Amino acid sequence: MLETFKQLAHPYDALSAEIPGGKVVERRLSQLQGCFADEAAYQAALEKEDSLLYRVTAIEPADGTGDLHYGLGALYPGKIGNEYFLTKGHLHSAREAAEVYIGLSGSGYMLLEDEQSGESRLEPLGKGSVVYVPGYTAHRTMNTSTEPLTYFGIYPANAGHDYGAIAERNFLKILVEENGKPTLKDR
Ligand code: F6R
Ligand code: MN
Repeated sequence: MLETFKQLAHPYDALSAEIPGGKVVERRLSQLQGCFADEAAYQAALEKEDSLLYRVTAIEPADGTGDLHYGLGALYPGKIGNEYFLTKGHLHSAREAAEVYIGLSGSGYMLLEDEQSGESRLEPLGKGSVVYVPGYTAHRTMNTSTEPLTYFGIYPANAGHDYGAIAERNFLKILVEENGKPTLKDR
């Protein structure tokens, strides 16, 4: 078994979310159409620059039952209007698949939304904090600091990513800066 793995240990650079040999996904502002509540602010920001919001590098060592995949994410700081930079957010295709997010640097939050009930929870993610994302829960990450928010997400190899279901109805809550503080509001 062990001999089937070419590489088990990987060096990583958190601030750039780089892991040599990993699968890289970069998300720019133009790919987050419909995610931010303030459409006018979104269009204005996009006209200025199609900024890189985040990069994720995934390591997928094996795909069998019991195997794990993990991703290193770097979500850069910024806002569209008063809403903090965020990830697209998704449910796992295998809805029961949970995930553990381990904060490495920076600070922000995870917005969790139960697919069935629509119940929302805001949990802090950053240096010194770890978040358990239960199955059946849509999850999105937001950076409320002025430096990159970096983290590892570790999930079952069969989890898969379903972006469509949550994009269609959108997260019910948004995280905006109000009086200098992150504030969770209805969309
Ligand atoms: C994997 C996972 C994270 C995200 C990353 C980017 O299951 O939850 O690695 O993929 O935070 O967010 P999305 O995938 O929503 O663009
Ligand atoms: Mn996930």
